[in-house]
Amino acid sequence: MTAVPSFCHQGMYKCVSLLLLLMGRGVLSQEVEVCSKTVINSCRDCIRSGAYCTWCKQLNFTKPGEQEAARCDTRAQLEERGCMGKDIVSPLNILTVTKNTALSTNAFVKDEPIQLRPQEVNLKLRPGLPRTFKLDFRRVEGYPVDLYYLMDLSYSMEDDLRSIKTLGNELFKALQGITKQGRIGFGSFVDKTVLPFTNTNPEKLKKPCEEKELFCQPAFGYRHVLSMTENKADFNREVDKQRISGNLDSPEGTLDAIMQAAVCGDRIGWRNSSTRLIVLTTDDGFHMAGDGKLAGILEPNDERCYMDNKLYTKSNDMDYPSVGQVASQLEKNNIQPIFAVTKNMENVYRELSRMIPKSEVGVLSEDSKNVVELIQAAYNRLSSKVTVTHDALPDNVRVTYTPLCPGGGPAGDKGVCDNVKVGDLVSFNVTVTADECIDRERSFLIGPLGIKDKLKVSLSTRCECECDDPKEENHKDCDGKGKVKCGMCSCNAGFVGQKCECAIGEKDESSLRAACRKDNGTECEGRGDCVCGICQCYAQQGGSTYYGTHCECENESCEKFQNKLCGGNGKCRCKICECNPEYEGTACQCKKSDEQCRTPSGSVCSGRGTCQCNQCKCIEGYQRPYCLTCPACQTPCITKGKCIECLGFQTGPFSKNCSQTCKSINEFEMVETLPPGKPCDVRDVENCRVFFIIKQLDGEDNYSAQILKTRECPELPNIYAIIGGSIAGVALIGLLILLIIKAILYMRDVKEFRRFENEQKKGKWSPFPNNSTTFTREETMNKI
Ligand SMILES: *[C@@H]1O[C@H](CO)[C@@H](O)[C@H](O)[C@H]1NC(C)=O
Ligand SMILES: *[C@@H]1O[C@H](CO)[C@@H](O)[C@H](O)[C@H]1NC(C)=O
Ligand SMILES: *[C@@H]1O[C@H](CO)[C@@H](O)[C@H](O)[C@H]1NC(C)=O
Ligand SMILES: *[C@@H]1O[C@H](CO)[C@@H](O)[C@H](O)[C@H]1NC(C)=O
Ligand SMILES: *[C@@H]1O[C@H](CO)[C@@H](O)[C@H](O)[C@H]1NC(C)=O
Ligand SMILES: *[C@@H]1O[C@H](CO)[C@@H](O)[C@H](O)[C@H]1NC(C)=O
Ligand SMILES: *[C@@H]1O[C@H](CO)[C@@H](O)[C@H](O)[C@H]1NC(C)=O
Repeated sequence: MTAVPSFCHQGMYKCVSLLLLLMGRGVLSQEVEVCSKTVINSCRDCIRSGAYCTWCKQLNFTKPGEQEAARCDTRAQLEERGCMGKDIVSPLNILTVTKNTALSTNAFVKDEPIQLRPQEVNLKLRPGLPRTFKLDFRRVEGYPVDLYYLMDLSYSMEDDLRSIKTLGNELFKALQGITKQGRIGFGSFVDKTVLPFTNTNPEKLKKPCEEKELFCQPAFGYRHVLSMTENKADFNREVDKQRISGNLDSPEGTLDAIMQAAVCGDRIGWRNSSTRLIVLTTDDGFHMAGDGKLAGILEPNDERCYMDNKLYTKSNDMDYPSVGQVASQLEKNNIQPIFAVTKNMENVYRELSRMIPKSEVGVLSEDSKNVVELIQAAYNRLSSKVTVTHDALPDNVRVTYTPLCPGGGPAGDKGVCDNVKVGDLVSFNVTVTADECIDRERSFLIGPLGIKDKLKVSLSTRCECECDDPKEENHKDCDGKGKVKCGMCSCNAGFVGQKCECAIGEKDESSLRAACRKDNGTECEGRGDCVCGICQCYAQQGGSTYYGTHCECENESCEKFQNKLCGGNGKCRCKICECNPEYEGTACQCKKSDEQCRTPSGSVCSGRGTCQCNQCKCIEGYQRPYCLTCPACQTPCITKGKCIECLGFQTGPFSKNCSQTCKSINEFEMVETLPPGKPCDVRDVENCRVFFIIKQLDGEDNYSAQILKTRECPELPNIYAIIGGSIAGVALIGLLILLIIKAILYMRDVKEFRRFENEQKKGKWSPFPNNSTTFTREETMNKI
């Protein structure tokens, strides 16, 4: 499987990859295709509102009066609604491979060897639609290697320096095992020559080592010693000249040195096409950004090259760089560091290595004798792992990599293939997605870390509709007054309307359309066309048409009564019944006459209600149909009893103004016998029983009564006997009470006397013990 279609040959630029277009659709079908529309006024709005929104540019696709937004939907929906495939506008992703030189097989070509393919692609992406293409990488056999040996020359490295002086030949030999075009450079560092990092005593600055040390060079920050060379003798000679130096604290100015070695490319002599390695040998930790403050150095590191006469000139003026700065410059310059450190520092540098992509750590033996094997092993580890990623991406652009190598792992923002040998082809699926429209073309680089070869991706978005509109300025489908734009009419000045059918003065189309809407509702209620602000109503099924300013009227939807429109007693007009003269009510269900409310005697609702829609509406308590009875009312036997008394017998509380008070008894007669039935039976003031019959007449308080002439009075008892009897009774009771009191007093006296007698017999001391008896007697009398 190749990333590039077969018709894209080497050197053939601008070949549109249709094949990959189709692949893009394959990814698509896994997602649910939806088009959620917001405000859509044009094809452009439509395709910007979602990756699956498509636009139908077919003429006459929208029905008269239908919103043009109906042209925007998913492809499936539009097709279902009859839009032809060729009329569906939906820009897809376009990938153009603009530079696709074949990969080199070895490093011995006239031009620079090519290790990555393609080299340039141009992507035009529909926002939201991902695009995948393949990226191939093959490390060229014999690809040049530049190795920069960067050595810590603080005093504790003395034995290591001795070793490297003897290892030069081996180092070159090992390099030749990798490539015929290997070169080596050399640099050394200690630390900033200011307090507290270095003793600034002039004596000590000159000779910062121990007294006994004979070969000691003055303190320094970073010194570039030897630029990249193929010459073994040069290397041996320059390294041999190196002397140990020294400083005070244990961390060194390591990051200063790495930074300069990375950014001073031309001084170091890095070749453009080479694998660039920095081998750092040290037995101590490193100072980082911020440590400079201890020596009053506040200026932050600016990641630029400051080398003069092979010495780092800003060493004492500029702070140490941060790990992030170092990592970014190493990556930018495709330099892969190998940290060859002593065992005690291994963990520190492993942590550092974690933050620097494409770096390796190896453990130096005490005297650095194993440094050659260490470099070989680290180099193999570095080159067997291919990591592709990108530099800064434009906003709202995402790139993921799927390694197409065994054990390559899932897609992520880096693609990693391990155990890659020189000459192995490794491939990655690169998926690019733009989430938003981008205003202009942007580009970014993709490539393997530590390798110079990069793929340049130029990216723009497809957010415009290419509708291939008819050329006519005055198209006949636009009433000859406008041109077609993506299926819609774009009317000439002075004309508006779906088909430019309205000639207007100052009015604009939207206000004309608004005139066709009632309360912001649907245009013409969906029952007509809005033509120049006037609704043209459709015919209804059954022949008649809708009518009214907004087509809101029809003659078939009035209220029904007994399943007939307007009760069959009127005509329906725009949802309202127009009743025949003798009818009324919302459905003409009421006769205006009150004949159905009349009692047989002819009164309407017995005078106790009104006739409404052929029915009595009675005053409270009375019952239909004629408001004759009131089961809940108090019986007139009671309410009218006093009036009967005064009318029939001129007695009782109303007797003084009876005719006035008892007007409600409209008529009455005194009779010898009452007609059969249960009469009223009340007692008057004289406790006589009065019998009468009372009937309610028409009206609220209107009665007629028949009163029995004779009352039933109780017989009068003998008044003297009653009075005499009562006096005798009272006297008898009084006598009885007196007798009882008398008896009680007598009993007490007898008791007292007995006690008195007893006490007299018992002792002669007190003939009168106390006077309680007298008191008791008095009290008893009081009570009586
Ligand atoms: C669109 O409709 C108009 C009027 O109904 C008709 O004259 C015209 O031919 C139609 N155009 C197409 C492309 O169907
Ligand atoms: C190396 O690359 C740089 C920038 O990419 C360029 O300016 C320089 O000319 C190149 N040098 C050689 C020797 O090709
Ligand atoms: C890589 O991309 C191609 C084309 O887009 C696709 O067919 C293939 O399945 C992808 N492979 C993986 C492992 O994702
Ligand atoms: C119609 O909509 C506009 C804007 O949404 C609003 O200002 C106006 O009050 C609405 N009119 C009615 C009658 O609802
Ligand atoms: C609706 O009814 C009214 C009243 O009968 C009549 O004048 C009008 O013509 C009718 N309209 C239709 C469309 O039938
Ligand atoms: C008769 O009695 C009514 C109330 O019972 C009272 O309002 C009215 O003034 C009285 N008329 C006469 C003439 O006393
Ligand atoms: C009482 O009823 C009689 C007979 O129905 C009627 O003639 C009279 O007008 C009524 N009086 C009132 C005040 O309603």
